[in-house]
Amino acid sequence: MTPDIFTCAEFAAAFILSQTNLRPRIGLVLGSGLGAFADDLTDPIRIPYAQIPSFPRSTAIGHAGQLVIGKSAGIPVAVMQGRVHLYEGYSAAEVAFPSRVLGRMGIRALVLTNAAGGINLEYGQGALVVLRDHINLQGQNPLTGPNDDRFGHRFPDMTYAYSPRFRQIALEEAQRLSIAPREGVYAALAGPSYETPAEIRYLRAIGADLVGMSTVSETIAARHMGIEVLAISCVTNMAAGILDKALDHEEVLEVGRRVMGQFVALLRAVLPRLANETGA
Ligand code: HPA
Repeated sequence: MTPDIFTCAEFAAAFILSQTNLRPRIGLVLGSGLGAFADDLTDPIRIPYAQIPSFPRSTAIGHAGQLVIGKSAGIPVAVMQGRVHLYEGYSAAEVAFPSRVLGRMGIRALVLTNAAGGINLEYGQGALVVLRDHINLQGQNPLTGPNDDRFGHRFPDMTYAYSPRFRQIALEEAQRLSIAPREGVYAALAGPSYETPAEIRYLRAIGADLVGMSTVSETIAARHMGIEVLAISCVTNMAAGILDKALDHEEVLEVGRRVMGQFVALLRAVLPRLANETGA
């Protein structure tokens, strides 16, 4: 008999914790081109995903595929440098598995980052946007299947999917750093093809400000476990059809690298306040 997801998550969490004395209460997931934050943690240990029992391996370009546990400004954090996506062939439950492992490690606050296309015309390339809400158009939910009450309830509430107090903190810290404080609604599609201009017009009509291929499965699994979520998108490109040019993944990675300094500064500023809020 194969072990259930809870047992696998518990086993992976115990393996990770056996590698470090740190007991982080804050987890981060760094998206495409945004991995540099993990490079300057103090006292880091790095565990390639391939070594963690049951962990999915990231195949996407721009994703390192390792878990880094260390301290940022004295605060212990568990940082996923790279994630997996539906378009790599993983199910939503597999995509969400690492978030569940973080939860079983004792994480109480999860910071998700991603590269996204800007739909809202007030955004420009390189804008950082705090997610207010999401629209899951991936056609999958990580909680599909029998519910395991050890993770959470069958029908988890999504009214406050993105923690109002964390959003407030992120907006305040953005302002303090002279980063335009922006909030938006993230539409998640399965990918991997980028959207058509008609799809972008549709997404704008249904209330999306941003579009991407990640984040929602992790958010849903985290909320199922009662973990508070903050998500920040980097607008690496304006979405299809807004500008008269084709989308290019290299450009997505390049813009991520260009705003990295701002992005890292924002994460560093936000973390101590999240730690304060969550008693970490
Ligand atoms: N669409 C979907 N995902 C993305 C985009 C986009 O335009 N840019 C970065 N990730």
